[in-house]
Amino acid sequence: MNAPQPALASGLLDLAGDFPILAQPVRGRRLAYLDNGATTQKPQAVIDAMDAFYAHSNANIHRGVHWLSQHATDLYEQAREQVRTLLNAADSQEIIFTRGTTESINLVAQTWGQRLRAGDEILVTGLEHHSNIVPWQLLCERSGAVLRAAAVTDSGELDMADFKALLGPRTRLVALAHVSNALGTVNPVEEVVRLARGVGARVLIDGAQAVAHQAVDVQALDCDFYAFSGHKLYGPTGIGALYVRAGILADLPPWQGGGDMIRTVSFEGTTYADGPQRFEAGTPNIGGAIVMGAAIEYLRGVGLGRVAAHEAALLAEATERMTALPGIRIVGTAPHKAGILSFLVEGIHPHDLGTILDTEGVAIRAGHHCAMPLMTHFGIPGTARASFALYNSSQDVDALVAGVRKAQKLFGV
Ligand code: ALA
Repeated sequence: MNAPQPALASGLLDLAGDFPILAQPVRGRRLAYLDNGATTQKPQAVIDAMDAFYAHSNANIHRGVHWLSQHATDLYEQAREQVRTLLNAADSQEIIFTRGTTESINLVAQTWGQRLRAGDEILVTGLEHHSNIVPWQLLCERSGAVLRAAAVTDSGELDMADFKALLGPRTRLVALAHVSNALGTVNPVEEVVRLARGVGARVLIDGAQAVAHQAVDVQALDCDFYAFSGHKLYGPTGIGALYVRAGILADLPPWQGGGDMIRTVSFEGTTYADGPQRFEAGTPNIGGAIVMGAAIEYLRGVGLGRVAAHEAALLAEATERMTALPGIRIVGTAPHKAGILSFLVEGIHPHDLGTILDTEGVAIRAGHHCAMPLMTHFGIPGTARASFALYNSSQDVDALVAGVRKAQKLFGV
């Protein structure tokens, strides 16, 4: 676990020094990395954990009788326990390692989803990322189930009246983002779960934009599935996890077939492993899981409460300063938002703005943010999006505001 957790007099965290990439100039400028919704940078502790694994612990897991294999297996299972702790799941056997949020959602659609029949309904929201829409559309094509989407309000919140109207006895699954990647809206997931329980529906929460920014407790949420990605919580790409409540996991049919997911194999028939191993066919991303564990330790060492407070302060500062500029429209003004600021600058296309900001060393995302239905709802092709992490600072907000001013001058708006 990392020891120091420096804070500034303002109460903001001061952790940029833990992240070597942030010291690297980009286009000759100090880097203001504000694309954390897409992926986060990695602290030295995580980079060291990656080196240490391949230098000292690499072997295949669950297979060898030799010391290194047992050691790697122990580290891999320890990482499962670290994910359990992050989510406060009751048991590490409820944690399946996947490639990330997208694979986690597809796993649910292709296993649990096999029980859906024509006339069943899946209810999502208009705020969803494509990865929480398209797997359900594919499932509906296969099963004859129907996908419904609850409306979004002008402030970018889930329209609860519409949600309640669409939720009914045919609803088998509610699938929604904990935090909207495009707008930062924090969905009222507790209330959604309570309402879904009332009609006997299962609930999947896409936690990709939540787990690195606030404490998550799947037992308190009472959800059935919770998905997230390692690379958005200061860990590597290509690794993530899916929480599946124990009672549901025990009943899920297998997913991909192969080694490690079986108990016995014969040409007469195969029996399958219990627990998460049934869904981890083949050699998994062993190093990725273990290094994601190191990222979780780093994050827990800082403290998710402090991270949430830091990012809320930066979001408030950025919102106030951007709103004070002429010609700015903030898209997504929910009172409860995580550290994501989506905006439009009158007279400048988001992609042009992103390109000009890049020349100033400011990295943002521009476009539809893989949430085209949401953009359609607002009648816009996309937005510019600044998304904050625990290492961002007021200096990054200064760079963003100065970059936007420069773009406005260049465009004469
Ligand atoms: N889903 C990621 C984002 O919002 C890639 O940028």
